[in-house]
Amino acid sequence: MRLLAWLIFLAHWGGARAEPGKFWHIADLHLDPDYKVSKDPFQVCPSAGSQPVPDAGPWGDYLCDSPWALINSSIYAMKEIEPEPDFILWTGDDTPHVPDEKLGEAAVLEIVERLTKLIREVFPGAFYCEKLPGPSGVGRIVVLNTNLYYTSNALTADMADPGQQFQWLEDVLINASKAGDMVYIVGHVPPGFFEKTQNKAWFREGFNEKYLKVVRKHHGVIAGQFFGHHHTDSFRMLYDDAGAPINAMFITPGVTPWKTTLPGVVNGANNPAIRVLEYDRATLSLKDMVTYFMNLSQANAQGAPRWELEYQLTEAYGVPDASAHSMHTVLDRIAGDQSTLQRYYVYNSVSYSAGVCDEACSTQHVCAMRQVDVDAYTTCLYASGTMPVPQLPLLLMALLGLCTLVL
Ligand SMILES: *[C@@H]1O[C@H](CO)[C@@H](O)[C@H](O)[C@H]1NC(C)=O
Ligand SMILES: *[C@@H]1O[C@H](CO)[C@@H](O)[C@H](O)[C@H]1NC(C)=O
Ligand SMILES: *[C@@H]1O[C@H](CO)[C@@H](O)[C@H](O)[C@H]1NC(C)=O
Repeated sequence: MRLLAWLIFLAHWGGARAEPGKFWHIADLHLDPDYKVSKDPFQVCPSAGSQPVPDAGPWGDYLCDSPWALINSSIYAMKEIEPEPDFILWTGDDTPHVPDEKLGEAAVLEIVERLTKLIREVFPGAFYCEKLPGPSGVGRIVVLNTNLYYTSNALTADMADPGQQFQWLEDVLINASKAGDMVYIVGHVPPGFFEKTQNKAWFREGFNEKYLKVVRKHHGVIAGQFFGHHHTDSFRMLYDDAGAPINAMFITPGVTPWKTTLPGVVNGANNPAIRVLEYDRATLSLKDMVTYFMNLSQANAQGAPRWELEYQLTEAYGVPDASAHSMHTVLDRIAGDQSTLQRYYVYNSVSYSAGVCDEACSTQHVCAMRQVDVDAYTTCLYASGTMPVPQLPLLLMALLGLCTLVL
């Protein structure tokens, strides 16, 4: 069971001041309450499944979800790096990667409560809000339950508009447009495809199509889209029919270092990350994005956690801001320049993977970033000629929805 918490904490809102504001975006904290440093490699963490975990350290392990010490450290690092954000986006997941039977509602609620309590303690005065307050009242944050569109969600599979959320989203966007407001869309599971393998989408195809239709139609009021779930650092582009960039979706990397068990992903662990965004308070346009990380193996070796700057978007890619237009430039550079590709690839795993992103890897990542639509993605993947067309059993498995492993 995965209960997702989409909580928006508002702290120290200072009205529509002229100077840029800042907000944090964190995701995938995935607490493993039973993590312990043990000499017995099978006793370290339930989230490693049946894999042995040798040499586990106090701050966590790449095979496990986050121990409390890591999560605590990440929240305190946020306080130290940027103590007065306008708000914090926290887009799930909270619970460990263990079978549903081993979790249950009470355990899930307890985890959500522990995380909420910690964030409230470190950032006191926080409260929940949908509409950003302030004299100009220009901003809205739209929090979507994208779990309704998830391929692993059997309950909504046959519905046209589960929870009438698409209709609601459209109404909110129309209202925002009438009021002259700009909007951030926030959710856990993103549309489109996972960039570390091929043909792995999280939304059911029909829902993916509907989502894209709504956001394309109303893109003029959407200043940013923020998701988690991948544990990796990436982004997705939306284009209009003429091929002009209209929106960027930012996928924030996780706090948990947990190496995914998803078939087709080689060594899919990551270092723990936290991210701060800089934005214009009057227009919600995104100015910059700064990602901090903990080198987990180093923290364990040295016995102390250290959160350091990983990269600043504008500086790393030589763009003026984090607008859709700039992100399109970033993507063009990643697609066209080997050293930029390699740089992106290192950031993608939060400086965990030092491997080389070869041609097949490049195709996989670039197609996932450029094409959120199912058909366009498939065309991109196979048109490049670097991808073998999937073999029948794999295809059948995908069609039958048997790949139920999740991030
Ligand atoms: C949480 O982190 C703070 C700041 O580093 C530290 O003072 C505190 O002891 C930590 N608490 C736990 C339970 O790890
Ligand atoms: C849109 O605005 C109308 C008129 O103010 C209001 O009745 C309706 O509830 C709003 N819809 C949403 C989804 O916010
Ligand atoms: C992380 O720490 C390990 C071990 O100390 C080191 O080998 C590696 O280069 C470090 N990685 C980064 C990105 O600093």
